[in-house]
Amino acid sequence: MEKEKLKGVSNGKKFLIESYGCQMNFSDSEIVASILTEKGFSITKVEDDADLILLNTCAIRDNAEQRVRNRLTHLKGKKKRNKTLKVGVLGCMAERLKSKLLDEEKLVDLVVGPDAYRDLPNLIEEVETGQKAVNVLLSREETYADINPVRMNQDGVTAFVSIMRGCDNMCSFCVVPFTRGRERSRSPETIVKECTDLFASGYKEVTLLGQNVDSYRWNIDSKGNIKNENEETTNFAGLLEKVALVDKNLRVRFSTSHPKDMTDDVLHTMAKYENICNYIHLPVQSGNSDVLKRMNRGYTREWYLDRMKAIRRIIPECAVSTDIITGFCGENEEEFNDTLSLMKEVKYDFAYMFFYSERPKTLAERKFEDDVPLELKKSRLTEVINLQSEHGHASTKRQVGLTQEVLVEGVSKRSSEHNYGRNSQNAVVIFPKQDSKRGDYVQVKIQSCTPATLMGEIVG
Ligand code: 5AD
Ligand code: SF4
Repeated sequence: MEKEKLKGVSNGKKFLIESYGCQMNFSDSEIVASILTEKGFSITKVEDDADLILLNTCAIRDNAEQRVRNRLTHLKGKKKRNKTLKVGVLGCMAERLKSKLLDEEKLVDLVVGPDAYRDLPNLIEEVETGQKAVNVLLSREETYADINPVRMNQDGVTAFVSIMRGCDNMCSFCVVPFTRGRERSRSPETIVKECTDLFASGYKEVTLLGQNVDSYRWNIDSKGNIKNENEETTNFAGLLEKVALVDKNLRVRFSTSHPKDMTDDVLHTMAKYENICNYIHLPVQSGNSDVLKRMNRGYTREWYLDRMKAIRRIIPECAVSTDIITGFCGENEEEFNDTLSLMKEVKYDFAYMFFYSERPKTLAERKFEDDVPLELKKSRLTEVINLQSEHGHASTKRQVGLTQEVLVEGVSKRSSEHNYGRNSQNAVVIFPKQDSKRGDYVQVKIQSCTPATLMGEIVG
């Protein structure tokens, strides 16, 4: 329905968009889809029907780029057979490699960075005249605040809402500040309006997205001073409250929190509103303060553990997930063991784990030697993964016997007799349907679990 409403007069052209990497990219693809459907393009999911294939790419680790390159090579073959097919690269890899993708490798027709999507219709016109087109300008202002994203997650229940763009943190391993530019926040009014509209059209859950949501600020400068006395100021805790007040039946999630910036205010706001989910993604990266210093993360192990204590004190039911990198520059055995010991202390419910991948232009690339051998990076990663799977399983086991509110997201892939959804803590729950349907809130008594999933039955 949303799609129909937004579609401009058809120009007969179809595009397919594939998203790689983080949730922000998936959210950006919905903005791109909105910009193109406004201009008369229509969306297709069938590769052979597409006149234009867009890959919204990730540059965070080398293997993410490799995946995209493989896909581009495949599409190059397709272009040989279908001379009118155009291929574009969007997102972080476009920003990182710029026209290199056009000049050196001749894999694509179009290269567009994350702040230039409004220019896509013009660029596509250029491409149609046989030229190659590039726009990788980064902006200090662009937030696409006025664009009503075309929702591509077909469940009609959960949606991403981008609240800010870019990142000013300069973690030494990270390419994001170079590919997504300076941090800027979107106005609270447009965010609240988007959430209100989503709820009115049947959505029951929004996830507020930013690289570091805790540094969200509206009408406040980087030193904490008010910019315009006549305008309202909002920090992340304030924004969270505004969104929670849209409706008590609209669940609110957010990602990603930053340990150096996460305040008790945010935690108190979470505790105050039932509909703000009890789940925080709080990437630690390493459990050793010297490594954290080299990573330029802006906190120590002790500071992180203090933030964890605050979470446990203020929201005892809260689930916590993390990101961990093994084998960062100079990481010795002792430093690595600190990551394992921190994991044992926190016992994360869930974790995303990676071995370090050096990225061009980053502080780490310029300053430190990438000196941990690949095999050691990988064996440390295996250790971390094994430990986390114990903790993950312990987390699901702890929930057996509890009755939890679950938002139904759809029919289970494994069995048409079962629905699946998530509890507040973000764990997937599977249960016999009875008469529940997508978008309903149901009470589920958890009866059993696997390391990553809960199984139960609707009660009450
Ligand atoms: N190598 C490995 N992992 C990385 N991440 C970011 N940059 C790198 C890199 N160069 C991880 C971090 C971050 C997550 C999104 O990706 O853990 O939190
Ligand atoms: Fe990268 Fe650090 Fe910004 Fe996250 S906070 S996007 S890891 S620079």
